[in-house]
Amino acid sequence: MSLYAKMTTNDAATILGVTAQAVHKNLKAKNLESFKSQNRVFFGHETSKKLFDLKFKKKVVSFQVVKGGTGKTSLTHSFAIRANLYGCKVLCIDLDQQGNLTQAFSVDANNAPVMIDILKGQVEPREAIVNISPGLDLIPSRIENATLDNLIMLEKYSLDKVYGDILKKLATNYDLVVIDCPPALGQSVAAATLSSDLIVSPLTPEQFSISGMKVTYEEITSLNRKFGKNIAVKVVVNKFDSRTALSNEVLRSILNHDVFKTLLCKTIIRSSQDFPNAIYSGTNIFNNLKITPAKEDIDLLTREILEIENLDNELTAVNG
Ligand SMILES: Nc1ncnc2c1ncn2[C@@H]1O[C@H](COP(=O)(O)OP(=O)(O)OP(=O)(O)O)[C@@H](O)[C@H]1O
Ligand SMILES: [Mg+2]
Repeated sequence: MSLYAKMTTNDAATILGVTAQAVHKNLKAKNLESFKSQNRVFFGHETSKKLFDLKFKKKVVSFQVVKGGTGKTSLTHSFAIRANLYGCKVLCIDLDQQGNLTQAFSVDANNAPVMIDILKGQVEPREAIVNISPGLDLIPSRIENATLDNLIMLEKYSLDKVYGDILKKLATNYDLVVIDCPPALGQSVAAATLSSDLIVSPLTPEQFSISGMKVTYEEITSLNRKFGKNIAVKVVVNKFDSRTALSNEVLRSILNHDVFKTLLCKTIIRSSQDFPNAIYSGTNIFNNLKITPAKEDIDLLTREILEIENLDNELTAVNG
């Protein structure tokens, strides 16, 4: 349990709008596994699954935007982990040849099958799955995935089927599939878009970030039109720092933009060293028992994307 993400009973109590005692009582009554450290009681995915007993709307969510370094991988990683901490069964797919998500999960993909091997028919999709922790799996990536675009083009794979067919084979086992895309707009990213229900585009308070978002949005709109799809897009502001003029300026520009203001997530992810630190130390932001801004923001984002915002209506899950 030490490296796994943790939810404390206080955390669960706040989420459910009940007292910590009510959560303790429920854990006991249902005989659910919990742990104790620094006078705090905490638990992981298996217990959350039974405690919250949530019915998830099955979804494929891609994190993508053409601009590099805006937080696609960091948000994919922490969102997937938080969703899993709500009891959601999650498959992450690393489609970026940089393999940053794979490294974030401390997986060595050197000899592991990755998406390019699946597309070449050398392995079955399920053979590429690596288990990270209970209810959380990953299809890793390595540099050879740089040829995904070429392969899709040379083999004339249908963009709307190539990943969709693979996901169909796997999706029955999962509540959520999360795809981390490279900062590009090639065939592979287009195919990921077409196999998704929702695209989340992180936008950082930097110059040209809105123009990068425009390019991605236009690409998704044109794919929607061409393939008769209705893939939703959400923009999430990441690395926000209210003390800087640029953060406020970028937020204002989005709120003044006719289209982007309608796509903007309610959640804003504040700048926090916890994101680089967690990945550097091979853990995740939910590994410790502290209350932190990074955890609060990712929790809100997770609930917004999973549409589980009003969990205090689920009181019966704990009291019933
Ligand atoms: N909210 C945040 N606060 C502070 N640092 C952050 C935040 N989100 C991400 N970072 C840092 O910003 C850097 C880039 O993040 P990340 O690798 O997630 O971006 P990316 O969009 O996946 O990049 P790429 O386009 O190369 O795939 C990393 O060092 C990461 O730790
Ligand atoms: Mg990345």
